[in-house]
Amino acid sequence: MSLPRYCLHLCDGPSCGIARNSERLLSLACRTIDSRGDLRGRVYARNYTCFGRCDDGPNMFVETLAPGNDGLSDPEPEVLEDQRGFYPGLDEDKLTRILDRHCGAGEVVDDLVDRY
Ligand code: FES
Repeated sequence: MSLPRYCLHLCDGPSCGIARNSERLLSLACRTIDSRGDLRGRVYARNYTCFGRCDDGPNMFVETLAPGNDGLSDPEPEVLEDQRGFYPGLDEDKLTRILDRHCGAGEVVDDLVDRY
């Protein structure tokens, strides 16, 4: 069985983008995806303006992409609320674990995920 396609949405609003260096995490995500054959072409990463959870940031939502969704646009509000994939307080170690487990094995990282 093939794994789903995912889009990682990392917030880069004023609170998280510069002040908390989420741009560095997006760069790390892109480099990691590019370097891994199991993720390349199936997992995408992009900026997201703001989740409204800046106190917890930087934050990332891992969207499971529906067929036909190219991952180039913001997730619909109901997708944000219904899918388990919101990861607050992201750092390099957490990002690596999420890429390995959620994107690489299709398993939500229970001790890191939060309700949106
Ligand atoms: S900029 Fe990250 S939640 Fe607002």
